[in-house]
Amino acid sequence: MSITAIKGMNDILPGEIETWQFLEATARNVFGTYGFAEIRTPAVEKTELFCRSIGETTDIVEKEMYTFDDKSGNSLTLRPEGTAPVMRSFIQNRLHTLDPVSKLFYMGPMFRYERPQKGRYRQFHQIGAEVLGVEDPKIDAQVLSMLNQYFCRIGIESVSLQINSLGCPECRPGYRQQLIDYLEQRLDSLCADCQRRYKTNPLRVLDCKASGCKEATVDAPEMLEHLCADCEEHFSAVKKHLLALTIPFEVNARMVRGLDYYVRTTFEMVTDRLGSQNAVAAGGRYDGLVESLGGPALPGIGFAIGVERLVLMKGEEKIIPPVPQLFIAALGQAACDQAFVLMTELQRAGIRAEMDYQGKSLKAQMRRANKLNAAYTLIIGEEELKSGEAQLKCMADSKQSQAKLGQLAELLMEKLTK
Ligand code: HAM
Repeated sequence: MSITAIKGMNDILPGEIETWQFLEATARNVFGTYGFAEIRTPAVEKTELFCRSIGETTDIVEKEMYTFDDKSGNSLTLRPEGTAPVMRSFIQNRLHTLDPVSKLFYMGPMFRYERPQKGRYRQFHQIGAEVLGVEDPKIDAQVLSMLNQYFCRIGIESVSLQINSLGCPECRPGYRQQLIDYLEQRLDSLCADCQRRYKTNPLRVLDCKASGCKEATVDAPEMLEHLCADCEEHFSAVKKHLLALTIPFEVNARMVRGLDYYVRTTFEMVTDRLGSQNAVAAGGRYDGLVESLGGPALPGIGFAIGVERLVLMKGEEKIIPPVPQLFIAALGQAACDQAFVLMTELQRAGIRAEMDYQGKSLKAQMRRANKLNAAYTLIIGEEELKSGEAQLKCMADSKQSQAKLGQLAELLMEKLTK
């Protein structure tokens, strides 16, 4: 039996990869304009990093991590998200000593042992960005403005921005207790998962999809009504700046996030085009995270975009992979050898050239040139080898022109840039 890929982990094939390249290149371009620099961290980290940052009682840490012991008995984990590794690297490399404000972005695979379905995979990819060192709500608005601009640039319009504030260590504990008290009165209506976690992670109950939990929490107290004065002021300022930047948003007071490190502003870009996996991007503030991981007391905010979900949304709008600019058809061994040298010279000059390697008939070679959608073809046989010239045919209008084999690159460059 042949070996297949792991469930929930996908190949990205030629024909699909062009969309990925476009999405990644546009991120580099847009994020670069906003002053973000790329960072790459390993795909595997010490397990403790994720337990301490994402939170012991979250679904990710409780159920979804790919954790294993290496041969020395160290517990390692395939990264389930990008923020914690970036913070680890930021602290380890003392990046705060280079600049009081760090703007970093990353892209790459993440791993979560979730039940695979459309838009949800076990290896998925994120494009993420993080800003460290700024508490000013302007930076919240700027991060959202960058996210908004990214979606405009990639041509995805059917998304909307939802924002919320989750308070801070000052105001959240009081709210949390109120929520626990509220849930305690309705325990019978909650699902088994929520009955188990309502004390350790009561906010997750607000996000539970079970109908009993949804009904039981209709009138649940909301964090927004319990913000302390500082958080209230911060959230008002975020909204004011978003309005000033004409970024459309909606306040969703029931939005909770599946990671414990968030404080104050949280947000999601949602769509109704992907069924239940409706978040295309998500993020928020995590003031306190860097310090809790042993670094300086710096505030932070960021987001991550799910690339597979973007690709699904781009849907049929396939980006056409580059076609050969020249196909060289050759007749006979000597011509074939010469065609091979010629093709390589053209490739070195930056021209996408192709030929046949299987000794096919001229007719079959021309069929392949057509199938590949080559812009030009060139036929070389004994005659052409002797004269050093051949007919260059434009496939779009079938016009032929005489070409000197020694000057083919220049001639093609001229024709292709017209
Ligand atoms: P998250 O909400 O866990 O946040 O993930 C961000 C995005 O990654 C989601 O909105 C979704 O588009 C995508 N995603 C998550 N899980 C999967 C999956 N199993 N399959 C496909 N796509 C998925 C974070 O990861 C935070 N680190 C975001 C952040 C950055 N917050 C601050 N900075």
